[in-house]
Amino acid sequence: MRATLAGALGLDVALLQSGMGGVAGAELACAVSDAGAAGCVGGYKLAGDALSAVLGRLTAGTERPVGVNLIPEVVGPEELDRQVAQVLDETPERVHLSFFGMPEDAVLDRVVAAGRGLVVQVGSVEDGTHAAGRGAVVVAQGTEAGGHLLGTARRDDLVAALRDRLPDACLVASGGIGSPEEAGRALAAGADGVLLGTAFVVAHESRAHSRFKAAVTAADEADTVITDVYEIGWPGRRHRVLATAVTADPGQPKNFIGRTVVEGKPYLVPRFSSAVPTEATSGRIEEMAMYCGRSCGDISEQLSAADVVAAFARVLPGAETVKNQTRMESNVSR
Ligand SMILES: Cc1cc2nc3c(=O)[nH]c(=O)nc-3n(C[C@H](O)[C@H](O)[C@H](O)COP(=O)(O)O)c2cc1C
Repeated sequence: MRATLAGALGLDVALLQSGMGGVAGAELACAVSDAGAAGCVGGYKLAGDALSAVLGRLTAGTERPVGVNLIPEVVGPEELDRQVAQVLDETPERVHLSFFGMPEDAVLDRVVAAGRGLVVQVGSVEDGTHAAGRGAVVVAQGTEAGGHLLGTARRDDLVAALRDRLPDACLVASGGIGSPEEAGRALAAGADGVLLGTAFVVAHESRAHSRFKAAVTAADEADTVITDVYEIGWPGRRHRVLATAVTADPGQPKNFIGRTVVEGKPYLVPRFSSAVPTEATSGRIEEMAMYCGRSCGDISEQLSAADVVAAFARVLPGAETVKNQTRMESNVSR
């Protein structure tokens, strides 16, 4: 029988919010989970006390299933082991782990053995097949996606190829989904649900800098480019961003163009840094890495996370549950 996101992660709405380093903190993740979908914090390079602080806010902020996103290739295997151990130790079972790209099998097995939900975002049929075989919900990322790109296939081609290979797997489509209609196309290609990044960058609860949010709502697809210039901190992987003076002229000097703060610790931001501008960042925001999917063409207003989930819930599996719940709640309050 085909797996569902309700079964795998306990969701009412078959929608995952991407864990986005710097942008997706506990406030966004908890708001998304409280709305019936899966919120997720970006773990990125957080470690030790800084990671503990985020995990504490995450588990105190919602009673619902929620996730923590980690990026194996950014931290390397030893640091990833430490991050995974900390998440498993410091959070309850309803907290799932989500990975950007494939970690080693031992990591996948450890998460499953701990009884946790496991989500892996992939860019190829090979990786998707491998992750599904280890018990993961597979997120198929197409090149329409904002942020770093795992493969070279278009979203619905990858979803269809994976569905062909994995008729029973729980498959989530990612990349370029900014409207319920686009989500419908991904479901028609064979997905069981969708993952959204850019649509949540502009949510009220997101930590993205206000000028980054405004640039996303003003942009359309043609304002995004695939580049590899924002490589300081995460080298060697192409990413889709809003076109900037830096993507137009990568020959500029690598001097500092701003300052930021991560969990209370100050950092200087060099031009070409992979770090996104957050509400704690100052300086030349418009030159920084504003990751953005082709989905921006359909995203024109800043909404609450709950309103984003509600807009998509009407086309996604599980929508009936939410509608019934809302009906029951309004009956009770009458
Ligand atoms: C601002 C931003 C930051 C991102 N950071 C991460 C991250 O830390 N971890 C991750 O797994 N994916 C990250 N992604 C990629 C998403 O998981 C996903 O592939 C992408 O957002 C889907 O396309 P969309 O933006 O058109 O919805 C990020 C995306 C954006 C837009």
